[in-house]
Amino acid sequence: MAREELLDPSPHEGDDDLDADERARSLEAAADGGSDVDPSADPVVATLRPRTLDEFVGQTELKRRLSVILEAARRRGQAADHFLFAGPPGLGKTSLAGIVAAEMGVTMHVTSGPALERPGDLAAILTKLGDGDVLFIDEIHRLSRSIEEVLYPAMEDFQLDIVLGKGPAARSIRLDLPRFCLVGATTRTGLITGPLRDRFGLVARLDYYEPEDLRAIVVRAAAILGADIDGGGAEEIAGRSRGTPRIANRLLRRVRDVAEVEGDGRIDAATAREGLEMFGIDTLGLDKVDRSILTALCARFGGGPVGLSTLAIAVAEPPETVEDVYEPYLIQQGLLIRTPRGRVATAAAWHHLGMVPPPSALPGATDPSLFD
Ligand SMILES: Nc1ncnc2c1ncn2[C@@H]1O[C@H](COP(=O)(O)OP(=O)(O)O)[C@@H](O)[C@H]1O
Ligand SMILES: [Mg+2]
Repeated sequence: MAREELLDPSPHEGDDDLDADERARSLEAAADGGSDVDPSADPVVATLRPRTLDEFVGQTELKRRLSVILEAARRRGQAADHFLFAGPPGLGKTSLAGIVAAEMGVTMHVTSGPALERPGDLAAILTKLGDGDVLFIDEIHRLSRSIEEVLYPAMEDFQLDIVLGKGPAARSIRLDLPRFCLVGATTRTGLITGPLRDRFGLVARLDYYEPEDLRAIVVRAAAILGADIDGGGAEEIAGRSRGTPRIANRLLRRVRDVAEVEGDGRIDAATAREGLEMFGIDTLGLDKVDRSILTALCARFGGGPVGLSTLAIAVAEPPETVEDVYEPYLIQQGLLIRTPRGRVATAAAWHHLGMVPPPSALPGATDPSLFD
C-alpha cells in the first residue's frame, strides 16, 4: 500500500493529479492559445508538471540539445524532428513531451503502445494530426510489430499506407500526412527495435537526478502547493527520493500531511525525517519493496546469484516491475549487480540491512560473472 502510494510503477497513474486524458486535454487547451486565460483558473498551472524547458529542473545536457533542435525547427518554420526519451519511471519523459509541444506552440496528442491494438488505431490518430503537432506514444516499446510497420513510413516520409479489403482482392492506398513530431517514451531502450530507434532524430536517456536538482524540484513544488518548507526539510526529502522527481513530489505531499496534522504545518529537517520514516522510506530512500528485494536476495538466497524471475516471485512483484522500476536504482546505488548468472547483492547491501556479508560479497572476491 505504501509502495503504491510512493512509487507507482505505472507511468499512467499517480501523475500529480491528472490522468493521461485529462492531461492531454489540458495540454491541448494550453497549446491552443491558453495564454490569455487567467493562470489561476488554468488546471495545468495547478499541477507540478513543468511546462517549459526553463521550468524543467536538471538534465542540463539534454535540455541544451533539445532547445537547440527546437529553436532551429522554429526558425525554419518546420515541425521538430522525432524524439525518443528513455529512462526509469518518474524522471520527466511525459513532461518533456508536453514541453516539446508547448515550446513549438502545437497540440499534443497522447497515446501509448498498449493502447494501439490494430494498425487502424494508429491510422485514426495519424490522420487527425494538425501540421507540426506532437504525437506522444508512451511505452513505445510495447507497440506491436504490425503497428511499427505503419509507423516507419509515417515517421520517415509522412505517408500512411492503408490496406483495404482482405486476401487477393486487398489493395493498398497511400495518404499524405501532415509533418508531425513523434515523441516516444520508454522505460526499456533495449526493447526498441533497431529500425524504430534509427528513425528518431534524438534518442535521449534520462538519468536519476542529483540531490541539488531534487532539492530545487521540491522547493518549486512546495511553492506551487503553498507548503512552508525550509532548506533542511527540502534537503531531507531530496536525499530520500531515489533520484526521482515524481517520488520527490509525492514524498513532499506526504510530509506536508504529517506537518499539518502533527505540527504547525512547517516542514523542517526533523518533520521531514519523521514523515519519511512514518511512510517507510529509509535513509537511502529505499522503500519497502526495495528493501524486500535486498532482504530476499541476502537472507533467502545467500546474496545470490539468483535469477530475476525467482527474485520477483520472492517479493511478489512482476519481473518487469522489478527490472524496470526497482533494480535500476539499486544498481545505481551499488547495492545490487546483474551478472549473467543472476542478481547478486553487494557488500553495501548486506551492510545496509545490518547484516554481515559473507566473504564472497566482499570487494576483491571473484566476480561470479567471470565464470560465464
Ligand atoms: N525535471 C523536472 N523538473 C521538475 N519536475 C519534474 C521534472 N521531471 C519530472 N518532474 C515531476 O515529476 C512528475 C513525473 O514526471 P513525468 O514526466 O510524468 O515522468 P515519466 O513520464 O518519465 O514517468 C511530473 O509530473 C513533475 O511533477
Ligand atoms: Mg510518463
